[in-house]
Amino acid sequence: MAGRFITFEGIDGAGKSTQIDRLQTLVEASGRVVCRTREPGGTPVGEKIRGILLAEDMTPETETLLFFAARAEHAARKIRPALERGEWVISDRFTDATYAYQVGGKGMSGERVEALERWTLGGFEPDLTVLFDISPAAAARRLAARAGAEDRFEAMGEDFFAKVRAAYLERARRRPERFLIVNAELAPELVFDAILRKVSPWL
Ligand code: TYD
Repeated sequence: MAGRFITFEGIDGAGKSTQIDRLQTLVEASGRVVCRTREPGGTPVGEKIRGILLAEDMTPETETLLFFAARAEHAARKIRPALERGEWVISDRFTDATYAYQVGGKGMSGERVEALERWTLGGFEPDLTVLFDISPAAAARRLAARAGAEDRFEAMGEDFFAKVRAAYLERARRRPERFLIVNAELAPELVFDAILRKVSPWL
């Protein structure tokens, strides 16, 4: 049986984690092995890069290169080997996040990011990307209710997240065959139903 590569995207506070938990449980109950992972991170080197990315101030160029350094390691050492073993890979964020945050949010060149993507990943892409769409105001309320300190990205204002959201939506609309856009302000059960409708033919 073939593995599948599913990614979850959306602005901070969109509520991805709960839905990833539910999907993982469901896929495992069907007898598949799930490799659950995240970006930035997912490998020993990637988790170290994550620590730098979330804590240190740096230029958008440095940031973009570090996200791709972590991603190159992640794809080569973790995601592709798991898929080759027939596992399902579920990742909390992947390449679309760089287009949304660094290109949409911070104004990095999309062409440079495309060049990095071609270099590090070739044409490697998820089978399905679930985009959690939520207004920046609703996401900020959810983040505020969460325990713990904000990281460098979560501390950005609503204007930034409005740009990130718009970039995600634009990308999703141009790639309807890969993206599922869910309204993350709906009840969690309804969000999960939408994901299930997409995934169940593969189970
Ligand atoms: P995430 O793990 O979703 O944060 P948290 O654990 O707090 O939910 O992601 C960390 C942050 O990194 C998030 O704000 C989005 C940002 N990010 C980018 O800016 N570009 C990227 O390419 C990726 C993968 C994440």
